[in-house]
Amino acid sequence: MTLENKLGIIDSVELAKIEEKISKKRAIELFESGYLNNLKPGTFKSLAEIHKYLFESIYDFAGEIRTVNIAKGNFRFAPVMYLRAAIENIEKMPQSTYDEIIEKYVEMNVAHPFREGNGRSIRIWLDLILKKELDRVVDWSSVDKEDYLSAMERSPVKDIEIKYILKQALTEKINDREIYMKGIDHSYYYEGYFTFKTSDL
Ligand SMILES: Nc1ncnc2c1ncn2[C@@H]1O[C@H](COP(=O)(O)OP(=O)(O)O)[C@@H](O)[C@H]1O
Ligand SMILES: [Mg+2]
Repeated sequence: MTLENKLGIIDSVELAKIEEKISKKRAIELFESGYLNNLKPGTFKSLAEIHKYLFESIYDFAGEIRTVNIAKGNFRFAPVMYLRAAIENIEKMPQSTYDEIIEKYVEMNVAHPFREGNGRSIRIWLDLILKKELDRVVDWSSVDKEDYLSAMERSPVKDIEIKYILKQALTEKINDREIYMKGIDHSYYYEGYFTFKTSDL
């Protein structure tokens, strides 16, 4: 099963490879152009802009709220029916302390607003908030992938692990492009091809 895409690719491995390449190029542009710095940290609009920027040449749904229910592992993300309301509530969540910021990040991950590419765009969105509020970002290269994923799986129930893991990895190097890019590096965070539509499970 391959996600419908603008490139007409029908093989999911091929799509995954091309998607990685294109979205990484776009992520660099997003950083270098200064576009990222013009976004308002913590808003849904900023997240949608990031997602759109990364994926607009690949997917029609880039920057758009999903219209299908999706799941990963045993976890079902916010149902489409409640998604807009969830997003509005998340936007209103405070973000002045480290704990508040991670709580907001966890909730945005639970919402999983897009059909694909949530992990990457929400990590960039998180760094944007941390940068503005705390003058820090996450050095994703010092975050173990397995630890991160299990903490994210656990986060809807208990956020103590993800808070601990990301706190260890905070860095003052907020304008380092390599550190920024590690957050979307597949060798660190890519755990499979696509998030499943729940109707296909
Ligand atoms: N079982 C789970 N429960 C909650 N969050 C999860 C789970 N598995 C993965 N995640 C989060 O979802 C992200 C993957 O979502 P996805 O939309 O596929 O984004 P991407 O394509 O950018 O990796 C992971 O990076 C992780 O943050
Ligand atoms: Mg994915």
